Amino acid sequence: MSDQAQRLRELVSALAPARSISITSGKGGVGKTNVVVNLAIAMKRLGKEVVIVDADLGLANVDVLLNINPKFNLYHVLEKYKRLEDIIVEGPGGIKIVPGASGITKLANVDSKERHYILEELASLQQMADYILIDTSAGINKNVLNFVLSTDVSIIVTTPEPTAVTDAYAMIKVISQRAPTQDVRLLVNMATNKREADEIYERIAMVSRQFLNMHIGYAGYIVKDDVVVMSVLRRTPFILEYPFSPAGKLVKKIAQDLIASFEDKPMPQSWLDRFLSWLGK
Ligand SMILES: Nc1ncnc2c1ncn2[C@@H]1O[C@H](COP(=O)(O)OP(=O)(O)OP(=O)(O)O)[C@@H](O)[C@H]1O
Ligand SMILES: [Mg+2]
Repeated sequence: MSDQAQRLRELVSALAPARSISITSGKGGVGKTNVVVNLAIAMKRLGKEVVIVDADLGLANVDVLLNINPKFNLYHVLEKYKRLEDIIVEGPGGIKIVPGASGITKLANVDSKERHYILEELASLQQMADYILIDTSAGINKNVLNFVLSTDVSIIVTTPEPTAVTDAYAMIKVISQRAPTQDVRLLVNMATNKREADEIYERIAMVSRQFLNMHIGYAGYIVKDDVVVMSVLRRTPFILEYPFSPAGKLVKKIAQDLIASFEDKPMPQSWLDRFLSWLGK
């Protein structure tokens, strides 16, 4: 590549908007919120600006895990009382958070116009961060699907429990019907060890390939670790309190691999072309 082309590529990536990642699951309680919070801090420690969006519309809990009490949240944005940029708060470890709202049924039942409005407001985050991590509620509903389909990557969290695995596959099936080219990656949480996690990934990847013609990537795994439970009780992310615990080290690896996977990905050609032709005018 010529020097000039290389410089242009660097310029383009400096201008590139944030990458967005939704974290979802078929079954509830598999560890999504813990993954989002700790992964965000691990990515920040690797030098990236990260914003978490608590999009579990109805049962928000990022703020509970982080021990923060934001005054305003997505409900106020939806009611057009606040703009999205006005509700962002700082969290531990230098991350930023767009707070959700607990127990407001209106948020759990937004119509498509309101959903669009929220997604439009979220677009303003694009210039604010390198990565946007969206914590969604469990299960297949329109809210979740819209977040999943609007992000660059969807991480589906499962545990080794058969019900969680079945529900993860059901989620993948719905995504494959709506967006067969979506970049979907599996994260196995609460595994006994690497072998168990790898086996679960391979099984899901195989059936997805065979029956849905869908490629599923592997985001990695986290073992079942008491530090996670303790940190939840203390409302402090385990990556901060116990960075060298098994769970802490594995989250760090997931963060490194995730960032590397984006950096390996070339910029979309069309984007670069448009940019180059614009420069040429
Ligand atoms: N790696 C782990 N090791 C041990 N316990 C864990 C681990 N991950 C999660 N847990 C336990 O599971 C509980 C639920 O985790 P979390 O709230 O992150 O799940 P969730 O998928 O976000 O749930 P929901 O579907 O309700 O939003 C935690 O409070 C913790 O006790
Ligand atoms: Mg949660």
